[in-house]
Amino acid sequence: MSEAEKPSGAAEPGPSEPEGGLSRRDFLNEAALGALGIAGLGAAIVTYRYLSPNVLFEPATAFRAGSPDLFPVDSVTYIQEQQVYIVRLKEGFYAVSAVCTHLGCITQWKPEAEMIACPCHGSKFKSDGTKIEGPAPRALPHFAITLTADGELRVDKLEVVQANQVLRA
Ligand code: FES
Repeated sequence: MSEAEKPSGAAEPGPSEPEGGLSRRDFLNEAALGALGIAGLGAAIVTYRYLSPNVLFEPATAFRAGSPDLFPVDSVTYIQEQQVYIVRLKEGFYAVSAVCTHLGCITQWKPEAEMIACPCHGSKFKSDGTKIEGPAPRALPHFAITLTADGELRVDKLEVVQANQVLRA
């Protein structure tokens, strides 16, 4: 068909406006909006993370160990979740850290040898935390131990006390 034979009222689509679809301009506009949306979302996430407090939740440093009756006289009880030994003598109670003073390994009570032993480098301690041998530079610390109003033992690992302090209960 020659140019002269085309109907005069029919509009032909231009090279950038395909018939029935997106024009090139509309496509680029939508792509730009999509890219801006993704960039905005990323910026919002980064800003939120920057502004939200960077808090580290740690376990409580004070804990209840239960009724004194739970601990027989002349016993050493390891409280695993607190890494503390509760020692009961005839005179009363004390709480000793189970964390080795050498490099921080968790010690173990050896009832057959009646001592606390560190599995890492061989330090040994008496049940009152006194160092017997090994590379540990000092004794295991004692923590404050008190009775609550309702009669339970309470240990505060933030309060280190003298080794001769005993709770009479
Ligand atoms: S960590 Fe206990 S002896 Fe080294």
